[in-house]
Amino acid sequence: MLSRSEEETIELGYELGRKLEKGMCLALKGDLAGGKTTFTKGIGKALNVKGIINSPTFTILKIYEGDLKLFHIDAYRLEGNEYDLGLDEYLDEGVMVVEWPEYYEDYLPKEYLEITFKYVDDNTREIEYRAVGDKYRDLC
Ligand SMILES: Nc1ncnc2c1ncn2[C@@H]1O[C@H](COP(=O)(O)OP(=O)(O)OP(=O)(O)O)[C@@H](O)[C@H]1O
Ligand SMILES: [Mg+2]
Repeated sequence: MLSRSEEETIELGYELGRKLEKGMCLALKGDLAGGKTTFTKGIGKALNVKGIINSPTFTILKIYEGDLKLFHIDAYRLEGNEYDLGLDEYLDEGVMVVEWPEYYEDYLPKEYLEITFKYVDDNTREIEYRAVGDKYRDLC
């Protein structure tokens, strides 16, 4: 699908966020400035998280309290480094959203929803869902 503005991407994140259940994992792939963090803001809104979702330069994991906990990972700076954040045992307390999952591949759950963001032009992004595992098929 196409998003024509930042607000529209937040809205798409919100719509998905309302359907998330404990233990779910989203892998947000794609271009720099593709809208991954923007989409995550919409998820946060749906989960009623406190605080503003952003991507501070050196923070890899942020945990937000809401109706469900939101584990927001930006693995960009893990590139080339094996590093397990050890979230497995906490995942059933909330949902996990991973930007740059290609740098955290070894530690992702077996099943997740992959969302790919493509930069089309200044204001337009193409966003695609792909279920990895049965549990995520209904969300697509
Ligand atoms: N349709 C759109 N959807 C999302 N963002 C948009 C859109 N049009 C323009 N933008 C702009 O693109 C930028 C997206 O930034 P964002 O931080 O969400 O990207 P990102 O995929 O998280 O990037 P990074 O890989 O650096 O973490 C923002 O500045 C936003 O205003
Ligand atoms: Mg980002």
